[in-house]
Amino acid sequence: MDEKSEHLAGLSSIRNAHEANASDAPAPMPAPPPSSTNGKSDALAIISDIHANLEALTTVLEDIAKRGIGNICCLGDVIGYGPNPLECIDLVLENCQFTIMGNHDFAIFYEPYNFNTAAENAAFWTRQQFESDPDKPRRNRRWRYLGSMQTRMLTDKFLAVHGSPRRPINEYIFPDDIYSATQKLAGIFDRVPHLCFVGHTHVPGVFVEHPDFYSPADLDNRYAIGSEKAVINVGSVGQPRDHDPRASYAILHADAVEFVRLSYDVNVTAEKVRSIDALDNFLGQRLLEGV
Ligand SMILES: [Fe+2]
Repeated sequence: MDEKSEHLAGLSSIRNAHEANASDAPAPMPAPPPSSTNGKSDALAIISDIHANLEALTTVLEDIAKRGIGNICCLGDVIGYGPNPLECIDLVLENCQFTIMGNHDFAIFYEPYNFNTAAENAAFWTRQQFESDPDKPRRNRRWRYLGSMQTRMLTDKFLAVHGSPRRPINEYIFPDDIYSATQKLAGIFDRVPHLCFVGHTHVPGVFVEHPDFYSPADLDNRYAIGSEKAVINVGSVGQPRDHDPRASYAILHADAVEFVRLSYDVNVTAEKVRSIDALDNFLGQRLLEGV
């Protein structure tokens, strides 16, 4: 068997193993509990939707380190759309306690589902980047990491999914749903134990069961945790869509969730997108506008 066939066979077995796990094991794996080590904070940083944006990710990771936060989890879409998928997956692999599978991670490991042309082209280009690294162990480590991502994680403090607790990979929970899709929200809240962290829409904020939605600005960037259920969208590190181009993430403290926004040099990332033919220029332009 030549090297490519051997790799494809290995990839196929990884995929098969993941599919078998996905179909017969709906029970969530327990996550390692956040811990305080070396005098570091007990807080947990929650990041999502990096979308292969290295400048945004390094800015966020530096901010988390500066705050002395040693625990980070990622809600998926590490890759897809952006120009630095390999660097971003490596950083997430090294820095996060766990990563949930997003629809773009799924698209690259399996196949794009319901993607527009730009997203699909970006997914195929990203897959080529994964395959073109000549370092076989590193290449396999990345594929194995993608294939081992869970679709949901339940800890003693919260539930984590990419999209929604009802359809973890693909369902969007939009702010407008509080007016137009109250049944959908009721079905979602039925599956929320207390706190549920999500990404996917790239719009940060807090849904409560009434239903209602509060943006970080409504909350002065801090949601006080009470007894009520809440679905908390941490926003997007690498492709915000709330008309604010700054990278977004959240910090879970003992009594509150803090929303953080950080400026980075968006022009550098947008220029990288423009220089790669397979990535639609719009994917760079939207970063400048935060849409
Ligand atoms: Fe995303």
